[in-house]
Amino acid sequence: MFKRRHNHKAKSITVYLEGEKLAAREGESVAAALLAHGTGDFRRSVISGGPRAPYCMIGVCFECLVEIDGVANRQACLVPVREGMRISRQYGMREVAPEIVP
Ligand code: FES
Repeated sequence: MFKRRHNHKAKSITVYLEGEKLAAREGESVAAALLAHGTGDFRRSVISGGPRAPYCMIGVCFECLVEIDGVANRQACLVPVREGMRISRQYGMREVAPEIVP
């Protein structure tokens, strides 16, 4: 469904989606890398449990929340990929880190 535009200068790197090795391009977002790979569900709805996928790709809708390197609630559309990054789908609600709760 989604195709990468050719950028021959972008370095190929490896990330992992729930242990599956994926090729990504340096400089692209986690969301772009997962969509290019054909991943359609990034998280499950807190209310219905239904699959959710990125919508805005600009940090507004929060539909792209994933867990990255053990940290939940990361917006996949705003985080650039990094070599060896470990990504997991997010299932339901996650705790808010205590240090950011007043
Ligand atoms: S796709 Fe909307 S915040 Fe990431």
